[in-house]
Amino acid sequence: MTNFVSTLRETRRVARAIAATIRNPLEALPPAVYEEPILHTRILKRAMIHVMDPALIQELLVGNAARLDKGRAVRRALSPALGDGLLTAEGASWRWQRQAIAPLFRPDRVQALVAPMIKAAEDCRDRLRAHGPDRLVAIEQETARTTFDVIVETMLADATFDTDTMIQGVSNYVRQTNWSLASNMVGAPQWLPHPGKRRAEKSNAIMRRQINAHVAARRAKGARDATPDLLDHLLSARDPETGRAMTDSEITDNLLTFLAAGHETTALGLAWTLDLVGRHPGVAARARDEILRVTDGGPVAPRHIAQLGYLKQVFNEGMRLYPPAPMISRQAQEAFTLDGVTIEAGSTLVVPIGVVHRHSALWTDPERFDPERFSPEQEKARHRYAFMPFGAGPRVCIGNIFALSEAVAILAVLLRDLDFAPALAVPPRPRMDITLRPESSLLMRVSSRRLH
Ligand code: HEM
Repeated sequence: MTNFVSTLRETRRVARAIAATIRNPLEALPPAVYEEPILHTRILKRAMIHVMDPALIQELLVGNAARLDKGRAVRRALSPALGDGLLTAEGASWRWQRQAIAPLFRPDRVQALVAPMIKAAEDCRDRLRAHGPDRLVAIEQETARTTFDVIVETMLADATFDTDTMIQGVSNYVRQTNWSLASNMVGAPQWLPHPGKRRAEKSNAIMRRQINAHVAARRAKGARDATPDLLDHLLSARDPETGRAMTDSEITDNLLTFLAAGHETTALGLAWTLDLVGRHPGVAARARDEILRVTDGGPVAPRHIAQLGYLKQVFNEGMRLYPPAPMISRQAQEAFTLDGVTIEAGSTLVVPIGVVHRHSALWTDPERFDPERFSPEQEKARHRYAFMPFGAGPRVCIGNIFALSEAVAILAVLLRDLDFAPALAVPPRPRMDITLRPESSLLMRVSSRRLH
């Protein structure tokens, strides 16, 4: 009888965890993650460890990186779209791709890409001005369009993608990933249908067709007389072990990876930050003072971006409260010890970035929006991994410097010329679909501050 009752309880607990994962994986987190440095649980007999303490996160993602891979859940959710691209590849395949692509993201190279970032931000500003102050704007759609323009312009210079189809395609795909995570939890077969899966497959096929056409056109054109872009790097990459080039399918996997990972995250970080700034006039005024001082009242130029220190603090604080990638996970490939406890091979390890960013042991008054937390003095006083929107260790976001330059450039152009007034009394709740999206649109009224 005792056995029956405990099985029933366990079944109920798992059913609740699955339902919550489908609704919003952040709601499926055990409440103790907000209090504890590390939490060991089991789900259907499989070990699951949540790691919140920054020093343990470092021990896990940096010290034990070689013993981890992204795991079944991530592969199941993302590989149908991203195949064996940089985000989902493992081992030697990942290493080769990372080495081939890394030169594109060196700080000096990123600096050369700031001009198109500013141009895309100015186009966004002009679109918003054209709407006028009476129309409600779903700001996450505007930032998505802007960051998509940036990624195409900077990484795939001569591509002619249909922007709306591509943005909608990525959105259709990520919106059903929670079902994949939940199916993986119960070991359901991959072919099992779930809501949104057919639409995601269709979107995926359409996006891949557009990308394949672009790759074929570039191959037909041959060498270009321009600074090598992402596609040039992928086409010329050679595996150091075998000497082979990437197949067309591997190239498409990577282009899709960069189009998706490279626009959604930054767009969401910007949208949540604009909502926060709109609710904090003191922060908006200080940011604007800085922009006007640094630009001397003129237009924003690439040389200004590194000097906009307060604006970077504002974006970091936006990402602290709303990390665009709020959770990362790994699977142990072999046993190792963490915090003196054995982690069995096969265990799932979760770093809930959003929880770390609001953990009461790490932050004073964690729910409060306060860009001062990222002043150089306060940053120095904190553990490096108390704030980790870009992940950590060898799989850290390859686009982190790019994303920060882009976000500061876009915020500088928008906040200099426009006022953002959120239309909802309280912000919509965040919901995780791989990325952290607002449950309903971040609606705003946008008005011009000055005319040029
Ligand atoms: C604010 C913006 C961004 C955030 C918060 C963000 C966040 C992240 C995080 C947390 C990871 C690590 C995932 C893991 O460990 O499982 C990651 C990886 C990655 N990101 Fe970003 N990202 C952003 C912007 C970008 C941009 C702009 C690009 C490309 C232009 C990009 C491309 C990638 C790629 C390709 C990976 C996989 C790297 C690897 O595994 O070697 N991301 N990102």
